[in-house]
Amino acid sequence: MEPLSTSDSAAKAAPLSIRAPFLEDAGGMWRVARDSGTLDLNSSYAYALFARDFSATCRVALASGDVVGFVLGFRRPDSPSHLFIWQVAVDADQRGRGLSGRLLDDLVAGLRADDEPVTWLETTITDDNVASQRLFASFARRWDAQERVEPLFEAAHFPDDHDPEPVHVIGPLRTG
Ligand SMILES: CC(C)(COP(=O)(O)OP(=O)(O)OC[C@H]1O[C@@H](n2cnc3c(N)ncnc32)[C@H](O)[C@@H]1OP(=O)(O)O)[C@@H](O)C(=O)NCCC(=O)NCCS
Repeated sequence: MEPLSTSDSAAKAAPLSIRAPFLEDAGGMWRVARDSGTLDLNSSYAYALFARDFSATCRVALASGDVVGFVLGFRRPDSPSHLFIWQVAVDADQRGRGLSGRLLDDLVAGLRADDEPVTWLETTITDDNVASQRLFASFARRWDAQERVEPLFEAAHFPDDHDPEPVHVIGPLRTG
C-alpha cells in the first residue's frame, strides 16, 4: 500500500462533522463533485439551488470547515415518503472509512423521525459503479431493508452517450 502523503494524513486526521448544507456550502459541493472523477458535474447553480431549497434532504461532511463530502437528495414530489438520492461523493482522501455511509445514515435517520417519515430510498447507479453499488447494498443491510433493481433511465432517455441508470429501491426503512 502507498504511504499517505502529509496532506492526505492531515485530511484524514481532521475531525469530521455532518450537517444539512447552507447556501455557503454550495461551492464546496460543486468542487467535490468536480473532483470525484465519476459524477456528472452539474452546474454550480444546481448545487446552490439544492443547498437552499433541498437542504433538509441533503448532507455535507466538513473537515476543518471545508466540504469534503456530500449527499444530494429530494423527496419525490408525487411520493414524498420516497427519498431520491441524486448524488453522493466524498473526496478521494476521505474514502474507504465509512463517510458516505455516515452521510446517508444521518440523512435517513433524520427523515425517518420527520412528521412525514421517509420509508423508501431510491437511487440510480450505472452498472460499472461498483463502489456506489456496494455503498447502497451496505446501507440496505444496516437498515434491515430489501433492495431491488429495475430499469429506469435507459440510454434512449439521454441525448448524449450517457450509460443506462437502473434504479435501486431500498426499503421499507425501519424507525431509528
Ligand atoms: C462511492 C463513494 C461515495 C463511496 O464513498 P466511501 O465513503 O469511500 O464509502 P464507504 O467507506 O462509506 O463504504 C461504503 C461501502 O462501499 C464499499 N466500497 C466503497 N468504495 C468501494 C470501492 N472503490 N470498491 C468496492 N467497494 C467499495 C465499502 O467497502 C463499504 O461496504 P461495506 O460496508 O460492506 O464494507 C466514493 O467512492 C465516491 O465519492 N466516488 C465518486 C463519486 C460516485 O461515484 N458517487 C456515487 C454515484 S452518485
